[in-house]
Amino acid sequence: MASRRISSLLSRSIASSPSLLSLGGKSPHVSRGVHRYSTAAAAAAALEVPISPPVKVELTQLLIDGKFVDSASGKTFPTLDPRTGDVIAHVAEGDVEDVNRAVSAARMAFDEGPWPRMTAYERSKILLRCADLVEKHNDEIAALETWDNGKPYDQAAKVEVPMLTRLFRYYAGWADKIHGLTVPADGPHHVQTLHEPIGVAGQIIPWNFPLLMLAWKLGPALACGNTVVLKTAEQTPLSALYVGKLLLEAGLPPGVVNIVSGFGPTAGAAIASHMDIDKVAFTGSTGTGKVVLQLAAKSNLKPVTLELGGKSPFIVCEDADVDKAVELAHLAVFFNQGQCCCAGSRTFVHERVYDEFVEKSKARAIKRAVGDPFKAGIEQGPQVDSEQFKKILRYIRSGIENGATLQAGGDQLGSKGYYIQPTVFSDVKDEMVIAKEEIFGPVQSILKFKDLEEVIARANKSCYGLAAGVFTQNLDTANRLMRALRVGSVWINCFDVFDAAVPFGGYKMSGIGREKGIYSLNNYLQVKAVVTPLTNPAWL
Ligand code: NAI
Ligand code: MG
Repeated sequence: MASRRISSLLSRSIASSPSLLSLGGKSPHVSRGVHRYSTAAAAAAALEVPISPPVKVELTQLLIDGKFVDSASGKTFPTLDPRTGDVIAHVAEGDVEDVNRAVSAARMAFDEGPWPRMTAYERSKILLRCADLVEKHNDEIAALETWDNGKPYDQAAKVEVPMLTRLFRYYAGWADKIHGLTVPADGPHHVQTLHEPIGVAGQIIPWNFPLLMLAWKLGPALACGNTVVLKTAEQTPLSALYVGKLLLEAGLPPGVVNIVSGFGPTAGAAIASHMDIDKVAFTGSTGTGKVVLQLAAKSNLKPVTLELGGKSPFIVCEDADVDKAVELAHLAVFFNQGQCCCAGSRTFVHERVYDEFVEKSKARAIKRAVGDPFKAGIEQGPQVDSEQFKKILRYIRSGIENGATLQAGGDQLGSKGYYIQPTVFSDVKDEMVIAKEEIFGPVQSILKFKDLEEVIARANKSCYGLAAGVFTQNLDTANRLMRALRVGSVWINCFDVFDAAVPFGGYKMSGIGREKGIYSLNNYLQVKAVVTPLTNPAWL
């Protein structure tokens, strides 16, 4: 798959679902686990008994030095099913000692093992085998992901796991194309640069796209010949362990990828502050990103890349095709239960089309199919955990209290699990909390604007700068906005287009550095300048 557009894939899979054909009705309606409602007052109704996941949890230990092992303390922690809050499995809890063991293994694999020393072509072939195995086990991996995270199975199976496969193949292609330069220096010297792996990479990933984040980080690190200690998020440890087993099966030598499940302040902090880790890559909240940067600075000054939060504008101009813009703006914010760092969470709409846009956005949100993520046709599952669930409900309350108009949703859905009604606010003002802070949930805030200069200033008035959507048919407007917006990605008449080759990362407090594409290789390489005198200047 050369390029994969999440939103178009979603609309295709959603449109083909028969359950969406029976929409509407005034009152909350539960049918075979699909929940729809049409008023903000929709009562909390019980969703059906959850569907049994079509997979078993087999791996719960830490992956260190090519073996699955218990944590040094013997401690475990429960990982929960967001559909119910029930325990799925108890997972080994990594802490400082386990991180030390993992780093020793990664260090040994880097300093003495075959991985950095084998030909780049051999590394490439192993990465291709990893991709083949992930592809073969696509559906089991997707099922684990849905169970642990709550995202619709269709999305995990048709988007996220295939993107992991694609990322591995993309970076397998880079492995034997990494090389330095010959530099034309002044004077009688032959100068060249060697591009060398950086060493042991520490990688800390979040729970919203556990497999994509794993792929964005492992792919370039491994292609460049590094070894890795990866910490998954405590909410979603399961899918990475499954992938870890496949990496071993594909022939990755022991110690090249070590996976430590565990919590941030313990295992995560141990990685960020480890003296023997040469680089750390983090994705998560801006607050934790700052902590990681501080820990790296206080320890060995390891270089840090950060992919953090956002409050991305989605700008609908007066000439936009309103129906298309409504659909895309909806997907831009509601995709993945709203748990996207680049969610288009500030929908700016030109005043001439504002009222029509609000009406249609409300109708679209009401039609959104919410329910058991294992059920076909479901667009939205539960939020990942009770902490996120409560945080989102607090933001919704603050929107109401601050005077935004609640058009749809506004409450939890059902009494079990972490389901939230797709929520739409209109008349949102820039200074409201819901327009400034990252909600990370299914909540759309629609703001009105009059002209381009005004919307540019307001869109840029944020501490974040991750992404933006622009909806217009006017080329001049598109050109003006793409240059004026201070963000790492601009999607014009599209959104959430994620391709392995396209860089992603943030301006301002949305992060440091870029992931994916050729840009991510630089995060995992050292550049060594090598100078040799030319004994005869005439050779120059
Ligand atoms: P978080 O940033 O605390 O967690 C992300 C990762 O960092 C997890 O693996 C966690 O264990 C680790 N971590 C936490 N504290 C750490 C520390 N002191 N040292 C090293 N690693 C540490 O995010 P959390 O608490 O899961 O979610 C809070 C908010 O963050 C969300 O509501 C959302 O707004 C935002 N977020 C943004 C993400 C993004 O993709 N940019 C992803 C996840 C959360
Ligand atoms: Mg879980």
